[in-house]
Amino acid sequence: MEGWEVYTEGVRRQQAGQDIIMLAIGDHDFPTPAPSVEACKAALDAGHHGYVNIQGIPKLVSAMAKISTRATGVATKTDEVIALTGGQGALYAAMQATLDPGDHIIIVSPHYVTFPGTARSAGAKFTLVSALAENGFEPKASDIEAAIQSNTKAVLINSPNNPTCVIYSKQTLEEISKACIKHDLWLISDEVYWSLSKGRHISARSLPGMKERTLVVNSMSKSHGMTGWRIGWLTAPAHMVENVIQLNLNTTYGLPDFISHAAAEALNNDYGVEEIAKTYHRRGEVFLEAIRETNCVRPANDSGSLYIMLDVRDLTPDGREFAWALLDEENIAVMPGESFGPSTAGHIRVSLCLPEEKLKLAAETICRFVATYPDKRKTA
Ligand SMILES: Cc1ncc(COP(=O)(O)O)c(C=O)c1O
Repeated sequence: MEGWEVYTEGVRRQQAGQDIIMLAIGDHDFPTPAPSVEACKAALDAGHHGYVNIQGIPKLVSAMAKISTRATGVATKTDEVIALTGGQGALYAAMQATLDPGDHIIIVSPHYVTFPGTARSAGAKFTLVSALAENGFEPKASDIEAAIQSNTKAVLINSPNNPTCVIYSKQTLEEISKACIKHDLWLISDEVYWSLSKGRHISARSLPGMKERTLVVNSMSKSHGMTGWRIGWLTAPAHMVENVIQLNLNTTYGLPDFISHAAAEALNNDYGVEEIAKTYHRRGEVFLEAIRETNCVRPANDSGSLYIMLDVRDLTPDGREFAWALLDEENIAVMPGESFGPSTAGHIRVSLCLPEEKLKLAAETICRFVATYPDKRKTA
């Protein structure tokens, strides 16, 4: 898979018995919170085994409308949400709903690895517009406008961002929103990390004139510790939800019944949300503190959510070279910044999905590795 090579090789070495510190993937190292698991068992025991409503079972749809109201800051009705197979299912649906074959979408980069492939699967062409390190990875609306073509139908943004963890400012979002209104474009806004933002997340959907042209991608994977359950949702104008219901009818035919019941209960009770956010914030602090102790490498952002981005450009312009060397020499797997687009070249993304002691050890090892990095390259 394009962009996942270091991760895939790290997994292969792990399976072959090597002791690899796996910091390449955003999957929790802890199980789904127990109350959600219990809710699923209870739903199985209660016989929720059948086909469900294509939009989602009514109590899940109503829980999703409630959480969308909270997450986007806009009152959301039940005909404005649809339950889908994870954030990825919601992204796929959003692209299918807004793009016809031959259309064009602008993807703001650094971007989640699947964005280009998901656009391709809608038959669309795409342009990456880079948010640059020197601008704190905040995109410029003027760069987005410069990339608009006659067949451009949508812009895709992701805040809080994977990989950089940057939370776009209100000004950035306002400027992007104005550009979307001016050029009559859809805005697909991937907000799956909203619950890890320490309350700083702003949804573009809440800005003037945007509710009717924004499709918000959301998920229970990160916020509720449910990556393997494949539960997400799309918040969109009712007529777009209607289109996605048709898409669902002809693809997945809805979600598993018992999972839908458990997900509704987890959403209504915020099972795990606060604890998970606190766990990652603590881990981010521990990792950054260990890095700062020797000041060996620059963090690209001081906030962190599920990830920390490190700028290794003082050592090499090539994050892939650094990531491969780190795997080969120190048994630590991270994602090279190049996997997320050109503006994170010369960076690495570290995921915080290991306990604090391991993260501290990883940070110390990275610093030791960095200290001799140029010498190693010279002799290589
Ligand atoms: C920005 C972003 N969007 C979407 C997804 C997909 O999430 P899900 O597991 O809910 O499909 C991810 C997963 O890492 C992500 O980082």
